Amino acid sequence: MISISRMSYSFNNHLALKDISFSMRQGEFVFLCGPSGAGKTTFMRILHGALPVQRGKVDVAGYDLNTLPERKKHLLRRDVSVVFQDFKILPRLSVFANVELPLKVRGVPRHIITKRVRAVLRSLHLDKKSFTLCEELSGGEQQRVAVARAIVVKPKLLLADEPTGNLDRDLSLRMMDIFQQFHKFGTSIIIATHNQEILDRMPDARIVCLAEGVMQDVRGTCQGL
Ligand SMILES: Nc1ncnc2c1ncn2[C@@H]1O[C@H](COP(=O)(O)OP(=O)(O)OP(=O)(O)O)[C@@H](O)[C@H]1O
Ligand SMILES: [Mg+2]
Repeated sequence: MISISRMSYSFNNHLALKDISFSMRQGEFVFLCGPSGAGKTTFMRILHGALPVQRGKVDVAGYDLNTLPERKKHLLRRDVSVVFQDFKILPRLSVFANVELPLKVRGVPRHIITKRVRAVLRSLHLDKKSFTLCEELSGGEQQRVAVARAIVVKPKLLLADEPTGNLDRDLSLRMMDIFQQFHKFGTSIIIATHNQEILDRMPDARIVCLAEGVMQDVRGTCQGL
C-alpha cells in the first residue's frame, strides 16, 4: 500500500523529515507517534500529495508520487482519505452537507448517498446534529464530522492526524472501535496519536515513532517489504 525509500523533506532550510524508509502492506494498521514538531503531519501531507516529494521515492496506493502530475492527484485522493489535524470542514455547511460532499463529487446516486451518510453519522453519534451548521459544533463534534467525511467514501487508505485529540475518553475509545471496524473490512490505516491508552488497548497494531524527523519502528516490525 505504501513504499517509501530514503525520503527527506525540508521547509526552507529546516529539515523536517530525514531519510525515511517505510513500507506498509494493504490492510495494515499503524500508529504514528512522536512529540510535537517531530514531523507527523508533514509525513501525512506527503502521502496525500499535499506536499511534493523532494528527495527519495514514494509510492502510495499504486501511485508513484515522484511522477504523479498535479492534474492527476484527484485520483490518489479517491483512494486515500485524510482526517486533518485542523479538521478542514466547511463551517457554513451542515454536518450532512459536509459528509455527503465527497460522495457527490464521485457521482454516487442520491439514494445511496442518503443511506451511507445516515449510517456513518449514526455510528459517530452525530445523527441528531445532521442539519446543524458545522460552525455551531463543539471541537469534538467537528472532529467527528471530519472522520465521517473521510470514512464515508470507504477509502483504501485512511490517514488520520490526531483524530481523538479533541475527544473525551469515551468518544476516543468509540472512535477507535470505528477505525477497527473499518480495518476489518480491509482498509489500511495510519493514525497519528499521542494517546498512550489507545496504543495500550491495541497490542497487535504496529507502532512507528518519529523523533526530530527520524522514523523508527517501535512495535510489530514489518520486515521484508
Ligand atoms: N509550513 C511550514 N513551514 C515551515 N516549517 C514547517 C511548516 N510545517 C511544519 N513545519 C516544521 O516542520 C516540523 C514538523 O512539523 P509537523 O507539523 O509535521 O509536526 P507534528 O509531528 O505533526 O507536530 P504536532 O504533534 O504538534 O502536530 C516542525 O519543526 C515545524 O515547525
Ligand atoms: Mg501534527
